[in-house]
Amino acid sequence: MQYSDKVMDHFMNPRNVGVIEDADGVGRVGNPVCGDLMEMSLKIQDNVITDIKFRTFGCGAAIATSSMATELIKGKTIDQALEVTNRAIAEALDGLPPIKMHCSVLAADALRAALADYYTRRGEVQKAAALVDQEVAEPRDSAEAREPLHWHDFGRMVRALNSAYPDVEPMDLSLTNLFKMILKLPGFDDNPDAVSEEQLEKLQLAWHEIRSG
Ligand code: FES
Repeated sequence: MQYSDKVMDHFMNPRNVGVIEDADGVGRVGNPVCGDLMEMSLKIQDNVITDIKFRTFGCGAAIATSSMATELIKGKTIDQALEVTNRAIAEALDGLPPIKMHCSVLAADALRAALADYYTRRGEVQKAAALVDQEVAEPRDSAEAREPLHWHDFGRMVRALNSAYPDVEPMDLSLTNLFKMILKLPGFDDNPDAVSEEQLEKLQLAWHEIRSG
């Protein structure tokens, strides 16, 4: 797999690694599919993120994207920080291999979790809930989505995803959300646990390829 020089640099020399002891907000997220974990801690003053640190137990792409995310977020207001998407993080790294785009979602999710913790500590529960309650899209009815689907039906599964979720951009999904969306397909008829991280990555990539024509 070919990584850009910037990805390699942030992987080998990650910025802002560690924990802020007197943090104003701490977020921990995991990707149960691959087992990777990320923690982000924030210092916030007058709505500005004055300091940010992270720890990641994860793949190289997860380390590089969290490192770049901290650089992009430090010094920004909360609203500006929330506009830093996983795509912006990947672009700042001169791109990620499409099969690893899902790793960049972890950094964006960790930031939201840390800000939710910040709002919870301040008693602003609604704001906190709005940050972490990310609904997974509902499938649209389609003939492809109704067909009986098993994990080994690779091509049919990809076509079912593409027709059931026409408004979803596959590269913006964490593997966890991709997994949840597959389970929602009306035709899904298999053991949910009988899939590997690699299979989900391949499904995501193939869906992205169909979508981008
Ligand atoms: S975040 Fe798990 S493979 Fe990258």
